[in-house]
Amino acid sequence: MQVKIKNFLSKKNNKKIVCLTSYSKSLSKILDRYCDLILVGDSLANVLYGMKTTHNLKLETMINHAKSVTLGAKKSLVVVDMPKDSYKNPKQALKNAKLVLKETGCDAIKIENNPYNLNIVKTLTNSKINVMGHIGYTPQFKKKFQVEGKNKTEENKLLSQAKKIEEAGVFSIVLECISKTAAKKITKSLNIPTIGIGSSNHCDGQILVTDDMLGLSGFYPKFVKKYANLEKIIDQAVKKFNKDVKSSRFPKKKNSF
Ligand code: KIV
Repeated sequence: MQVKIKNFLSKKNNKKIVCLTSYSKSLSKILDRYCDLILVGDSLANVLYGMKTTHNLKLETMINHAKSVTLGAKKSLVVVDMPKDSYKNPKQALKNAKLVLKETGCDAIKIENNPYNLNIVKTLTNSKINVMGHIGYTPQFKKKFQVEGKNKTEENKLLSQAKKIEEAGVFSIVLECISKTAAKKITKSLNIPTIGIGSSNHCDGQILVTDDMLGLSGFYPKFVKKYANLEKIIDQAVKKFNKDVKSSRFPKKKNSF
């Protein structure tokens, strides 16, 4: 098994796993110092391209951003989200996953799970492709945002889904917006790491969309902690540039040839 995946798996029941999203080289260069895993998330559809959903994202777009991210990430595990229409059947999923790995040099791909795509996970893992799963709120397949696992029936349904995905060979599963009790049950029952987003501190690791936690996206649901207010910082810098240009304070002699 590849060293990066082995190191990642060894953190289960040992050390909390740190994950964030990135869509570019400049950001992944910084994340690489502190993250175990960098996800090139299809959230870039909303965050960068202003799309209402992630549904129309092209594989080519993911590949281009992933190429940039792998240039900046040396030690972290780089995982690339497969867009919705790129894994509709096992044959297409295998062809496209191989393309992503070859073109970008990433370590793994992530797919969002639904009750019908277990065969796709199996096809990919049987071909020795590292696959990350994703359950709970899965924006590619669910119309409405809602927290899952709020009662025993829902908890057991999620647990059973997680176990089947683990058996299908994924190396980790993202748990998005599921209840604390469901996250705890799943994390305790699986041998692979669970990575939570809005799913409590019972998960083996945590992920956030970096633009959200840096205060740049304008999207701050309850589960996001804002670690910086980059919008404000950038606003101040651009305002100053505007003033300097208008008043001819920039460029100075030292900025000129
Ligand atoms: O697309 C994404 O950024 C994700 C994370 C929210 C886990 O899937």
